[in-house]
Amino acid sequence: MSGAGRFGVSMDRELLQRFDQVIESKGYSNRSEAIRDLIRDYLVRQEWEEDQEIVGTITLVYDHHVRELTDELTNFQHDHPDKVLSTLHIHLDHANCLEVIAVHGVGKEVQKFADKIIGTRGVKHGRLAATTTGKQLR
Ligand code: NI
Repeated sequence: MSGAGRFGVSMDRELLQRFDQVIESKGYSNRSEAIRDLIRDYLVRQEWEEDQEIVGTITLVYDHHVRELTDELTNFQHDHPDKVLSTLHIHLDHANCLEVIAVHGVGKEVQKFADKIIGTRGVKHGRLAATTTGKQLR
């Protein structure tokens, strides 16, 4: 089905006022666009919970001086070539590396892969940005 659908929502006035303030500060020109983005985000989260094909990026910051850490992170990626699409490595300074790993696969498996790599000893910070192939969204 295509074309635009419309619906009305009633809610507490104060809640709506607060919503309008937040979306204005984020640069939305109207409620419809903000609500569309919220719905898309909700649907993407559903894709991750179900066994659907998803994509995402894992961002890591680590100190490459930590013993065997670089090897460990590389080996782990080599063990999962089905999930890793590409890796970007940036030498931030003398010690710190930034790594961005583009991943795809079934949501739960990619989440598990991300948890494991982020939880590797010596990784200072890691975050999975869970997004979508876009096929299910308009
Ligand atoms: Ni580096």
